[in-house]
Amino acid sequence: MTSCKRVAAWTVIGLTTAALLVAGSVIYFGWYDISATRPHTAAVNQLIETTLARSVSVRAKSIRVPDLNDPADIRDGFGLFRAHCVQCHGAPGVAPEPYALGLNPAPASLVESAHERSAGEVFWLIRQGIKMTGMPAWQYRLTDGQIWDVVAFMRVLPTLSPTDYRQWDERSPQPTPQAIPLDAPRIGNAMAGRQALQQYMCVTCHVIPDVVGASSHVGPSLAGIAIRPYIAGVLSNTPENMRRWLMAPTTIKPGTAMPDLGISEQDARDIAAFLKTLSAPD
Ligand code: HEC
Ligand code: HEC
Repeated sequence: MTSCKRVAAWTVIGLTTAALLVAGSVIYFGWYDISATRPHTAAVNQLIETTLARSVSVRAKSIRVPDLNDPADIRDGFGLFRAHCVQCHGAPGVAPEPYALGLNPAPASLVESAHERSAGEVFWLIRQGIKMTGMPAWQYRLTDGQIWDVVAFMRVLPTLSPTDYRQWDERSPQPTPQAIPLDAPRIGNAMAGRQALQQYMCVTCHVIPDVVGASSHVGPSLAGIAIRPYIAGVLSNTPENMRRWLMAPTTIKPGTAMPDLGISEQDARDIAAFLKTLSAPD
């Protein structure tokens, strides 16, 4: 190596070490303010926005958009929007609920998103949700058809004045909340179950081996659940009983602290299949 190259190599190593030290100090000494009452710095905000824009655009590119002009679909989309979205995003002349005002990042006005984003991107964002914001994933609560209905309504949204929106509200009957309609459930799939349990707060109450963030002791650890003879001390541990437990713990054991989480039959089968793989005790 020539001395010139050696100097360059040491400079790169020195600069990298310095950058890592600064980043480490920011984290270790708690310099970055993560409170929702303080905005991100401009640089962090730019980084997050660009990451979001690129992530969505790459993933939504190949989505095929169906016909979004059917008035019946648009009306169904309005019902779903009113039931699930207006609380956080507001609508023409309608403010979000007080808790949504405290979110950081603040939920965007969807009038603007409908203008700026393609239908495929909006579909992807609603279906998948956005990490580290308050935006939920709707994939486990709405069918793809229902999500497209919401997208269809969102395309009409920018054309509605506050008076128009109020009229839609008055004319549409309140929807009765209904469980996600299912095709005939297929046999449980452990991989799908592992993903589904992120969507039902299991990680906030249980230690679950190999699941990142599942380290809470509100309920018993699920390590070794596959080889335990009983579920919650009351049911013999079969896949069918596990499905029943997950779908309605409070019916099976009144007074239990594990809540009914509205798990669909398919998701319960998948999660039961995943739990069947947890045979190693702690
Ligand atoms: C609990 C509050 C909450 C609910 C309920 C909610 N959202 Fe969101 N949403 C957010 C937050 C927070 C963001 C991220 C900040 C942002 O980019 O708007 C977001 C982002 C979005 C975006 C991306 C906005 C953009 O252009 O960057 C879309 C589209 C969206 N939400 C649609 C919906 C729809 C449709 C529903 C109802 C099915 C819904 N949201 C329900 C909080 C919520
Ligand atoms: C709010 C906290 C909470 C959430 C969320 C929760 N659980 Fe539980 N879970 C509990 C508690 C508490 C028990 C103990 C119940 C009892 O014995 O009465 C329990 C018991 C169980 C059991 C039986 C364990 C045993 O040792 O027999 C299983 C299996 C289980 N939960 C799986 C899940 C899965 C999977 C999810 C997500 C779909 C989930 N739980 C979500 C609190 C929770």
